Amino acid sequence: MPEIRVEIGERKRSYPILIEKGIKEEIGRLLTARYQGDKILLVTDKNVRAYYAEVIEELLRKAGYEVVIYTLPAGEQAKSFKYLHKGYDLLLEKGFNRDNLIMALGGGVVGDLAGFLAATFMRGISFVQIPTTLLAQVDSSVGGKTAINHPKGKNLIGAFYQPELVVIDPDFLQTLPLRELKTGIAEVIKYGLIADRDFAIYLKEHKEAIFNLETEALLHLITRSCAIKAEIVREDEKEKGVRALLNFGHTIGHAIEAVTGYQVYNHGEAVAIGMIGAGRLSCKLGFLTREDLEILGDIVRLYGLPFSCRYGEDVEGLFQTLFYDKKVRENKLRWILLERLGHAFIKSDIDNQLVREILEGLV
Ligand SMILES: NC(=O)c1ccc[n+]([C@@H]2O[C@H](COP(=O)([O-])OP(=O)(O)OC[C@H]3O[C@@H](n4cnc5c(N)ncnc54)[C@H](O)[C@@H]3O)[C@@H](O)[C@H]2O)c1
Repeated sequence: MPEIRVEIGERKRSYPILIEKGIKEEIGRLLTARYQGDKILLVTDKNVRAYYAEVIEELLRKAGYEVVIYTLPAGEQAKSFKYLHKGYDLLLEKGFNRDNLIMALGGGVVGDLAGFLAATFMRGISFVQIPTTLLAQVDSSVGGKTAINHPKGKNLIGAFYQPELVVIDPDFLQTLPLRELKTGIAEVIKYGLIADRDFAIYLKEHKEAIFNLETEALLHLITRSCAIKAEIVREDEKEKGVRALLNFGHTIGHAIEAVTGYQVYNHGEAVAIGMIGAGRLSCKLGFLTREDLEILGDIVRLYGLPFSCRYGEDVEGLFQTLFYDKKVRENKLRWILLERLGHAFIKSDIDNQLVREILEGLV
């Protein structure tokens, strides 16, 4: 079974990511080997509950645990103070203590909220992730970022809090809507572009297998993505340096999500447009070759991700929104660019006029 270890600082803060078809059936055994407490709060959302929560609950009960299910509404609205508060209430009402465990069963929304709940309840209790979207399997369940949203912005309240175990079963993806699959693929493409040219080419050549959800292709996709992210997080857990490379495409992507009111493009679609923008910028500055820029465009197009953004003519509005990013320091944007396909770097001093030109080409 592919296993990736995420090692953070001292070895005691390292944890495994187990990736295997059908592994969800083994959850009881995997947990009893690691968790001696009696209670589990199983956090999920309405959609995932309908498909999977009862099966997982039954497996956990058979393994001897008392399971309390906390069902969130589906979607970003669940990452709020309201549902965090309800989570604390439920934990206290059901008599949870520091020796108990919270398990996230769902996409990035469930993982982010459940992780923050685990990070803060009684100053931190054990946390296990079972991600069920592609985005969560390749991105949000790895690396320990947990958060809820504030009315002033996404993910503004949160903590770095690593889980003890991540269990990834590609079978969950069988029920995932296509648009959600594609949003995860955008992040997978990003890993190829920033860290592994061969992986980017693999994506270019295996669209059919990936869209047909063939096990071998999915396992490769997930394993390689997790390995790249784990390697980056190992070097820089708190995003003081190299972890910023994971934001390739996100500077423009976040601005597109914001100016369109988070209604038009989902995260992966906005990041896809952002990757096109950052790729063109890299090319204009003489780093990425035209051929490699074309490959980047081909991959984005191949997976049916958007290339440009339908957002009127207000390039200046989009430009200004770039500066609302949490990563902006002293009013300077930190661009993640491609030196070549498979190799990213950070650059801050980019002429604003050039950035405006790139944005004009995207809207
Ligand atoms: N912590 C991190 O490092 C990190 C990284 C990237 C994104 N995120 C966060 O992740 C969130 C987005 O995550 P997401 O894209 O997984 O969205 P999501 O959690 O909202 O899930 C997308 C939709 O798919 C449904 N769903 C989930 N699994 C399913 C399955 N197997 N079958 C059918 N339907 C299923 C959900 O109910 C939801 O409607 C955002 O809040 C973002 O900020 C966090």
